[in-house]
Amino acid sequence: MQKTYLYAPGPTPVPSEALLEMARPIIHHREAEFKPVFESCRRDLQYLFQTSRDVVTLAASGTGAMEASVTNFLKRGDKALFVNGGKFGERWGKILKAYGCEPVEVAVEWGQAVDPAAVAAALDADPAIRAVYVQASETSTAVMHPVKALAAVTGRRPGVILAVDGITGVGVFDLPMDAWGIDILLTGSQKALMLPPGLAFVAWSEKAEEFLKTAGLPRFYFDLKAERKKQLENQTAWTPAVSLVVGLREVLAQIRAETLEGVFARTARLAEATRKAVAALGLELYAPASPSDACTAVKMPAGVDGQALKKALRSRFGVIVAGGQDQAKGKIIRIAHLGHADTFDVVTAIAAVEMALAGLGHPVTLGAGVAAALKVLNG
Ligand SMILES: Cc1ncc(COP(=O)(O)O)c(C=O)c1O
Repeated sequence: MQKTYLYAPGPTPVPSEALLEMARPIIHHREAEFKPVFESCRRDLQYLFQTSRDVVTLAASGTGAMEASVTNFLKRGDKALFVNGGKFGERWGKILKAYGCEPVEVAVEWGQAVDPAAVAAALDADPAIRAVYVQASETSTAVMHPVKALAAVTGRRPGVILAVDGITGVGVFDLPMDAWGIDILLTGSQKALMLPPGLAFVAWSEKAEEFLKTAGLPRFYFDLKAERKKQLENQTAWTPAVSLVVGLREVLAQIRAETLEGVFARTARLAEATRKAVAALGLELYAPASPSDACTAVKMPAGVDGQALKKALRSRFGVIVAGGQDQAKGKIIRIAHLGHADTFDVVTAIAAVEMALAGLGHPVTLGAGVAAALKVLNG
């Protein structure tokens, strides 16, 4: 017998209460019983996004909301800046290009956060740029980008909006949409929302509303104006992912009960404990300067291949972590903290990493990382 421990940054474990809710006989989305469920979700999504604006739910993975954040706000040929410091930043550029916009790249070394001054300089250099696209948390490198400072940069420019991919940021750390002046904020269901993949969410500001009015890119399924109109009536334009919406009501209620502050503090503690454990094991972080609390990227020591470590964790202990992608492949492993995670998830993950490293011939003092983690977790 071997248990499985899911510590990848999405999909993340689903609480049993949500699994049970989703296992109930399906309800019909055009019948009266759907409306109160959806209404409750809409209200709690505003709490999650820290906004008084409407949060639109889409049946899609997170990338669907990324695409909608381009097609509903820009016109063909529009210039848009995107921060490219990892796989998901790169995706903004690909979407912009696919829809005939002109992407302006601000390249960031993998493992580093973007410098808001570089974004401000790029905007100053080219007043035709209409939007800035960035990740709150670049999951591929475990970096947190400085969204508050970026919002201050775009906030001073009436003709520029800031779109933030909060797929591993919303419900992980503080991203108050209204207070900071984030113009478009989006996330997906399979991360901090503790649900299976299949739902995406997007909200936009009053400033972005003006862009919505003049948007000129092709769109049909992800038409935010049409969706919002229906969703204000607690309906959806197309068939919603009914069972996921039922699960959504449950997880949002759990987040409300813990409070956002509580969720952020718990996640931050798990991330901090992991970072301390990494240091105690003589290992390094891939993103030491601006680590995201969503997941920790651990650099592999000389002689250890990240893919081999990932494989050993899985086969020996049932522990699932993420490896590195592209240029980081084999060089890192990523351990998640977001969503349905607590104290003993860190203990388990670190203990397994210690044993797996030892098994691969890397010298480790068994328990050293766990002891450092416990100091944080027991505080
Ligand atoms: C920051 C970020 N953006 C975008 C995505 C893509 O989301 P999806 O795979 O749900 O389409 C992910 C998925 O891991 C992500 O972490």
